[in-house]
Amino acid sequence: MRFKRQRGTQDVLPEQAVRWQWVERRMRSTLQSYGYGEIRTPLFEETQLFVRSVGSATDIVQKEMYTFEDRKGRSLTLRPEGTAAVVRAYLENHLGREAGARRLYYYGPMYRYDRPQAGRYREFFQVGAEAIGSPEPAQDVEIIDLMMTMLRDLGLDELQVEVNSVGHPECRRAYESVLTAALEREQSELCATCQGRIPSNPLRVFDCKNERCMAVAARLPVLRGHLCADCERHHASVLRGLGQLRIPHRENPYIVRGLDYYTRTAFEVHYPQLGAQSALGGGGRYDGLVEACGGPATPGVGFSAGIERVLYALEQTQTERPARDTTAAVWVLPLGDATRVDALQLARELRTHAHTTVDLSGRSLKAQLRGVDRSGARVAVILGDDELASGEVMVRDLRVGEQQRVPRRDAVDAVTALLSTPEGGA
Ligand code: HAM
Repeated sequence: MRFKRQRGTQDVLPEQAVRWQWVERRMRSTLQSYGYGEIRTPLFEETQLFVRSVGSATDIVQKEMYTFEDRKGRSLTLRPEGTAAVVRAYLENHLGREAGARRLYYYGPMYRYDRPQAGRYREFFQVGAEAIGSPEPAQDVEIIDLMMTMLRDLGLDELQVEVNSVGHPECRRAYESVLTAALEREQSELCATCQGRIPSNPLRVFDCKNERCMAVAARLPVLRGHLCADCERHHASVLRGLGQLRIPHRENPYIVRGLDYYTRTAFEVHYPQLGAQSALGGGGRYDGLVEACGGPATPGVGFSAGIERVLYALEQTQTERPARDTTAAVWVLPLGDATRVDALQLARELRTHAHTTVDLSGRSLKAQLRGVDRSGARVAVILGDDELASGEVMVRDLRVGEQQRVPRRDAVDAVTALLSTPEGGA
């Protein structure tokens, strides 16, 4: 009986993990440079948190959550996204006590029972940032600027921000009645799913990929034309700010996003070369979310980006980044039973200078050398029974294939001397 990983999940192997680490490190550094501090929340939460925040009529809540009962019969859900949990933690830990906006970021796995396809997983990683406490349009601009800077710092260009305003609940209610009436007139043209959405979530029709639904959507009135004066002003300021910071963007009245908590600004960042799943990430303002989670009325805005998609986008570019794990610069190769613990001791000493790995396979010297040659390491130290008896070890420069016998007590110096020689010769 062999076990297999679950559909829509991935094993990240060491060679790929180096790239994940590089991306994570760079992103953290950009987020911190904007004054965002990391928050880590649990992978599971009370189910109702997501039902209330993401919205009971959304695909995420209706079809995609990993929900289970624990041993006490409590309904829990693996987090399908990060914002709701951050807002819960913001309230629970009284992070709103300080004046001004609280700037938080997170990095970690999310879970959605999606249909797996390119760029779509059931376990995927997100990086995200949330600024909770400021109603200002400039805060929306900062969030978009942060997301774009973070992606550009990784070497991704040609990114396209698509922005819309989804208004606030009153604008939206007024618009939804106009939209519902228009959809009812076109009902026979719509797919069964969209027909079912008319009473519960008419805006989702704009997300349907069915060709006939898309044709109908192109004729429907858009929310943008039904904004109240305040929402309109907010939107205009956000657009002006993006222009002033020279962030390439375009208005897209069809961006509605798959989560219900958005108010006013909603945006996505696309990398067009990715094709069908070209959204690297998205976000927006959620001025009613803190209140919906039981807190005082508090505005907020944020984004998240999918790491797998970012990595895939990076593969399409020529950006320089680590291709493989070159961490093991030194290998210690013990020959014979008596030398293995001595090898562990020597490795300890070497590690103050370089990443060091001991070959404990028990293979012949020839086989061990073949292995280290493939690893890309710089130096090997060979511990043989005979040499050790005479208090010596063999230090081998793997680049040129030459070796020298040195006293055991000078081994660390001999290795560091080789490591400090520029590559390509002494
Ligand atoms: P979202 O648009 O649902 O927003 O997800 C953001 C990004 O996560 C997507 O653009 C995509 O890159 C990635 N993503 C989503 N689902 C999958 C999947 N099944 N497989 C791989 N990647 C995926 C949110 O989650 C909001 N919390 C964003 C936000 C933050 N809004 C305000 N603050």
